[in-house]
Amino acid sequence: MIYLDNSATSFPKPPQVIAAVNEYMTKVGININRGTYSLSYLAEDLVYETRELLADFFNYENPDNVIFTRSVTESLNTLLFGLLKDGDHVVVSSLEHNAVMRPLNALKSRGISFDRAACDNDGNLDLADFIIKIQKNTRAVVMTHASNVCGTVLDLAAVGAICRANNIFFIVDTAQSAGSIPIDMKSLQADALAFTAHKGLLAPQGLGGFIVNDRLNAELKPFIYGGTGSISHLEEQPEFMPDKFESGTMNLPAIYGLNAALKYIKTTSLQQIYAHENKLTGLLLDGLQEINGISVIGRHDLLWRTACVSLTVSGKDMGEVAHDIGNSAGIMVRCGIHCSPSAHKALGTYPDGTIRISIGSFNNKQDIKACLDYFNALMK
Ligand SMILES: Cc1ncc(COP(=O)(O)O)c(C=O)c1O
Repeated sequence: MIYLDNSATSFPKPPQVIAAVNEYMTKVGININRGTYSLSYLAEDLVYETRELLADFFNYENPDNVIFTRSVTESLNTLLFGLLKDGDHVVVSSLEHNAVMRPLNALKSRGISFDRAACDNDGNLDLADFIIKIQKNTRAVVMTHASNVCGTVLDLAAVGAICRANNIFFIVDTAQSAGSIPIDMKSLQADALAFTAHKGLLAPQGLGGFIVNDRLNAELKPFIYGGTGSISHLEEQPEFMPDKFESGTMNLPAIYGLNAALKYIKTTSLQQIYAHENKLTGLLLDGLQEINGISVIGRHDLLWRTACVSLTVSGKDMGEVAHDIGNSAGIMVRCGIHCSPSAHKALGTYPDGTIRISIGSFNNKQDIKACLDYFNALMK
């Protein structure tokens, strides 16, 4: 079997990650912030070290502002519901995932409105249109760093500079970029970065988080309230970080896994992971473009893109092709809308969607060749 659905979730995970989860499950197993025994302190230290690793990874100075959630979806909900009030306006790109679009549509009933900045057929953000969409009451800009449909990377440094100049909060969804391309919260001038552990960060599912700066945090209300293990004699939510946003028992097995994954990425080097994925993406793009009847959706070059490649197949049903490639060639890809109807409308592939081939750090040239062989045979 060949796994080429890494934009959905990365697989396999590094052995170090599996070992770390196993270590927690077999040798630690306890909760943190609630026990006075030494194992509890050991796990607490590891959780704090993971905050430090994340702060370092995304270039933010204060690990206390690194918050763990269940997913990037929960992080984005926390940021949007915690910040926005009646009368606020938001600008998003037209490539957003439903993790952004569904909360924003739900927030309409609370008097919050939004506009989409246009992206061209290759997914490149139209900065002039973005500027036009900013209104006097624009409180936040929320954008994905990279499209989960076509892999195009948005020029978020330019967006961040415009947000800062206009005193607008800038929130970045790094679901498709973290672990694949370097991300620097400072140079993007982002006020918050939302991340998920199970994709490019190579950790288990059920864990995500966000980093928020003090400027945005001062305006942010918690989304989930409950026990934190701290100031337990009070019935009010703590206001200090990270407890303000971390109610309920944490996913400690996944945090152990993420700790090992971040160390793995650091040792391997993100540049090397990027170079490897980029090289394979080049092979795939070159091969696909030689096949009659296959159209690559999004950028055809290797600039401003991740290793997520979408295509359409002329005269064939995309669902049937995706099913067949799995059954006959053992290749796992995804078809359809990928939870991003907005992106497909921008890219011209709505409502049929695309077949998405997403390369990960453990794929190799043979995987790409097998995939190209399948499409060559299909279109003969
Ligand atoms: C751009 C983007 N944002 C958000 C998400 C949601 O991720 P999760 O399911 O880990 O919350 C995804 C997942 O596919 C994504 O690609």
